[in-house]
Amino acid sequence: MKGIVAIYPGSFDPVTNGHLDLIQRGSKLFDQLIVAIARNPEKGTALFDLEERKEMLRAMTAEWRNVSVDTFEGLLVSYCVSKNANVVLRGIRAVSDYEFELQMALMNRKIDSRVETIFMLPAEKYSYLSSRIVREIAHLGGPLTGFVPDMVEQKLREKVKSNGIRG
Ligand code: PNS
Repeated sequence: MKGIVAIYPGSFDPVTNGHLDLIQRGSKLFDQLIVAIARNPEKGTALFDLEERKEMLRAMTAEWRNVSVDTFEGLLVSYCVSKNANVVLRGIRAVSDYEFELQMALMNRKIDSRVETIFMLPAEKYSYLSSRIVREIAHLGGPLTGFVPDMVEQKLREKVKSNGIRG
């Protein structure tokens, strides 16, 4: 696929090994992959602020030359157009993800038909992993090895120590 700029949008609160698996797969397929962290008022208060999430993602993706990290506000398709991107990359872990992803992809296409959504599957070992469950395990003092990079685990432990966190 030549000259294709793809956007991988999400909350990334925090980035997990499942996200990184998908970023690596996407970086092989697209010429440029922009990991775009959404300022998502619908999700309420995030655990990590946008700068913290960006810092973690930048550190974790530094090895991939065609991957960059950005933040965005407002409609995803408008952001795609502003970046000359015509692909949105999303991961589907299990059937349970499908309904929400279908709705989002079709709505995005309705708003702007130039933007196509491409779905990829992360490695099976990450199919049960989510940022929400990682936050909950961290809150309860459980093990995080293998779910998030060491740097992210350290930041999660620091958050638990300093404020206590919500799952
Ligand atoms: O990691 P998440 O929380 O599943 O990501 C959801 C995200 C950020 C991709 C989605 O909420 C989104 O695209 N937000 C931007 C606002 C928007 O365009 N909403 C209409 C989508 S149909």
